[in-house]
Amino acid sequence: MTHKEIREKFLAFFKKRGHAVVSSSSLIPSDPSVLLTTAGMQQFKPYYTGEADPVKDFGLKNTVSIQKCFRTSDIDEVGDETHLTFFEMMGNFSFGGYWKEEAIKSAHEFITKEMGLAISYVTVFKGSDVVPKDNESRAIWQSLGVKDIREEGMTDVFWGPTGSSGPCGPTTEIYCKNAADQDVEIWNIVFNEFFCDGSREELLAGNAKLRSLAMKGIDTGMGLERLAMISQNAKNIFETDLFTPIFDILSDVGLDERKKRIVVDHLRGSIFLITDGVRPANKGAGYILRRLMRRVMVYEKMYELPPDVFNKMAMVVVEYYGGFYPKLAREFGAVIDEEREKFMKMLDKGLRVLNTELKVFSFDTFQLPKQEDIPDISDGYVPPGLTGKWFFDFYQTFGFPLELSIEVIKNRGRRISDIQLKRITEEFNKEIEKHQEISRAGAEKKFGGHGLLLDTGELKAGTPDEVQKVTRLHTATHLLQYALRKVLGSEVQQMGSDITPERTRFDFSFPRKLSPDELRRVENEVNSVIDADIPVIMKEMDYDEAVKGGALAFFKAKYPKRVKVYSIEGVSRELCGGPHVEHTGEIGRFKILKEEAISSGVRRVRGTIE
Ligand code: SER
Repeated sequence: MTHKEIREKFLAFFKKRGHAVVSSSSLIPSDPSVLLTTAGMQQFKPYYTGEADPVKDFGLKNTVSIQKCFRTSDIDEVGDETHLTFFEMMGNFSFGGYWKEEAIKSAHEFITKEMGLAISYVTVFKGSDVVPKDNESRAIWQSLGVKDIREEGMTDVFWGPTGSSGPCGPTTEIYCKNAADQDVEIWNIVFNEFFCDGSREELLAGNAKLRSLAMKGIDTGMGLERLAMISQNAKNIFETDLFTPIFDILSDVGLDERKKRIVVDHLRGSIFLITDGVRPANKGAGYILRRLMRRVMVYEKMYELPPDVFNKMAMVVVEYYGGFYPKLAREFGAVIDEEREKFMKMLDKGLRVLNTELKVFSFDTFQLPKQEDIPDISDGYVPPGLTGKWFFDFYQTFGFPLELSIEVIKNRGRRISDIQLKRITEEFNKEIEKHQEISRAGAEKKFGGHGLLLDTGELKAGTPDEVQKVTRLHTATHLLQYALRKVLGSEVQQMGSDITPERTRFDFSFPRKLSPDELRRVENEVNSVIDADIPVIMKEMDYDEAVKGGALAFFKAKYPKRVKVYSIEGVSRELCGGPHVEHTGEIGRFKILKEEAISSGVRRVRGTIE
């Protein structure tokens, strides 16, 4: 059965049995405690708790959907036979309509009669301290003639809650054999009879409480890709018709099977994220998208893939899934190209740094190292520089997400043991948290005051919104100084500046009026650094060290012994108190409004951002 037939069959089967067909919700959930949609039940959470009325909204107590899902927890597994980041989950749901018997009997009928497949075995809940053993499900399966019934506990057959609290309950799962004779879980049937006041982690750790829900609910989820694998007698999900047309484009490129799977998964996931409005960024869903895209781009570069291969694949994804998801992003090409352009600017340098750090061989050639060039390193040895902190700084500067750096390093013949990787990952995550805390604390300080929130003499802002604008204009002012020096020469010296939410005013030494062409070039220079989306890095150091290192200092200012230096790699390095944006891309479009003389030999430029 093709994936199209499976979709239609599933929806029709449950529609005939009193379910309202509901479209997939976005991958960005309305529940703020969850980053991405990971399950079909997420959009229905309020119907289980009684906060919303299914009959009012859908005309019936039962619904059926094919939900777009994204699980970041599986990123590292991608490349094997069954894991994906993005996948589609078919599910039927009931909010006080039917209960265990009808749920299990419908699933059994659908798998064995409609799909004509054999069930290998099923699981049922074996009971815990607080939730009793599920004898009822066992009896129902037995009555249907299923012989192999296995008992599992909380970690395997107890669902939810998603996010910080929610409906949850024991489950029963159906396993079928694929063409490689492996048992694969294809359908999870959840009996939502509890509400948990904490997260899943808290529940498993015994730190959250369960209370019985007033109304019992059914939530089932079956991976479309996995069902297609069983139905199409494939050895893995990638051999199904959901993927083969995309793989065809990769048939002539020199990637091994695992990498091809990663590329296909990540590209498909990226397109669906882009469709739902996610754009590459440094946090949240945007960071996940960035990680997916950059991993694909490194392969593109390292394996010298033809430049259009990813755009071609993306086109196939859009065409192929477009029938079911008509809104599938058509702007993906522009988003991918823009991110590629940004990343490629840092990629070469980043690879060179990794190379220096590892002292293995030249990354420039992108050739695998010769055996004799690889130093003799015992398993698990990590050069002293390669700590989580090092990888974090490296990410900040060159945009390599951690797993990407690790992959490049391993690809070059370096071994990093699981223990070492765990340590590095923990340190890296700690750095990320620290970084977020620092920016949060900074924001509180900035937004928490009374009256004028920011008045450093140079920057003036009265509301949080204005703080953001002056921050963007502040970084733009550093870029303006850089651009003026680049176009007019390094005799240009800052003579003063003043920044309001509307504009930046920058005074500098220069003997004559600037020509329209010079002004245009200055503007273009600033905007091209903005387009390159280069990270803005702050380091604290001694004044002498900063000046020796070439940081520009404004001669009129008095500096303490310890100073902050804001650098934008390859562009600017200035002694400055901040605040600044994290990446130049956040600035927006820069525009020069006016250029004039304010005294002999001193010019003034006013500029703004859009
Ligand atoms: N919520 C369950 C799952 O995602 C069943 O739909 O597995």
